[in-house]
Amino acid sequence: MAERTPEETLAVQGPAVERVQALVNLAAIERNCRRLRAGLGDGAELCAVVKADGYGHGAVPVALAALAGGAGWLAVAGAHELRELRGAGLQVPILVMAALTPVELAETLAARGDVVVWDERDVAAVASAGGGRVHVKLDSGMGRLGTRDPEQASAVAEQAERSPGVELAGLMTHFATADELDDGGFFAAQLQAFVRWAGELKADRPGLLLHAANSAATLREPAAQFDMVRAGIAIYGMDPFGRDPAERGLEPALELRSYVADVKPCRAGESAGYGRRFIAEQDTVIGVLPVGYGDGWRRGLSNNCDVLIGGARRPLVGTISMDSVTVDLGPDAGEQLLGEPAVLIGLQGSERITAEEIARRLNTINYEITCGLTPRATRVYHRDGLQAEQDAAGAMLPGTA
Ligand SMILES: Cc1ncc(COP(=O)(O)O)c(C=O)c1O
Repeated sequence: MAERTPEETLAVQGPAVERVQALVNLAAIERNCRRLRAGLGDGAELCAVVKADGYGHGAVPVALAALAGGAGWLAVAGAHELRELRGAGLQVPILVMAALTPVELAETLAARGDVVVWDERDVAAVASAGGGRVHVKLDSGMGRLGTRDPEQASAVAEQAERSPGVELAGLMTHFATADELDDGGFFAAQLQAFVRWAGELKADRPGLLLHAANSAATLREPAAQFDMVRAGIAIYGMDPFGRDPAERGLEPALELRSYVADVKPCRAGESAGYGRRFIAEQDTVIGVLPVGYGDGWRRGLSNNCDVLIGGARRPLVGTISMDSVTVDLGPDAGEQLLGEPAVLIGLQGSERITAEEIARRLNTINYEITCGLTPRATRVYHRDGLQAEQDAAGAMLPGTA
């Protein structure tokens, strides 16, 4: 990487420049992809799942980082997400995985998105919209999109082959319990059902792309990797099993940061926040941070999480408001904490708060934590602390010198 002047160096450790920042380390995403790729069987492709604005990280910068890290495909849920990626100049194959309205289907095919089909009607719709590449989905147990009937799935595949302008590109399924290691054999049964169906079709059509695995399946079972894996959560450095990402060598890419905007004494018996849900038992000092549920820091975290300030964990106290939260800085805290960075997700000194920890506190999954960050939390892109460069189209170019 080229030398940077100090001005070009992103002040990731410095004073806050905005009330809430979601710092996204594109180099970590690149490394996570490289690690995943290294664990794939011979010739298997990595498809980076960047739907929901790259799980809240920003679809285009993440896609570029994933491609730099060895991904050959991208996947999104809908047509507007495809449009964003194509608009940024990305020419790689992109799988559009969710159900599409006729309008969305036409837009997807026009933008050369691969679509998912499981019914004769779907193939007919693709043909009449001008044709395109399709992936037939067997519902091997997820109970969502796809057909549960392998014979119907095969019939749909054969219909696609016969339909002018339609290309049968792939066969796929999706696992319901890949992230549950004690699922009573359900994952294995799904895998077996897919192998039985897809293996037979592939025997006569070696060019077909078979894909089934999400991040959990990719990490858990090499036999589920087939020709391509569709990995989302792991490329962001979060753990699909809800454990510490470090255990699998994954590096969390996102850090959520605010700062101490005010410091005020709170005497015993005084309260902080709506509903007086925190009443000081003894004299203490309260820090006010300008972050709230309007940024995606959910109200369920009221009196229910810590924040890193001055290298130490401090309890968030009281009710989370739309724009601010209060933190108990302890009786000895003083004005010196004013303006200090406050880390809600990420590292500070030897302390660390992961999205997995926040998810546990909310009885949810890490996916929902980063997807739930709103646009008001400004995304700031960097590579291990160095500012990522921006091309003329506004896309972040990781690794450009
Ligand atoms: C069909 C499909 N494949 C792959 C993925 C990626 O899953 P994960 O983020 O668990 O890797 C998703 C995400 O929900 C999905 O819906």
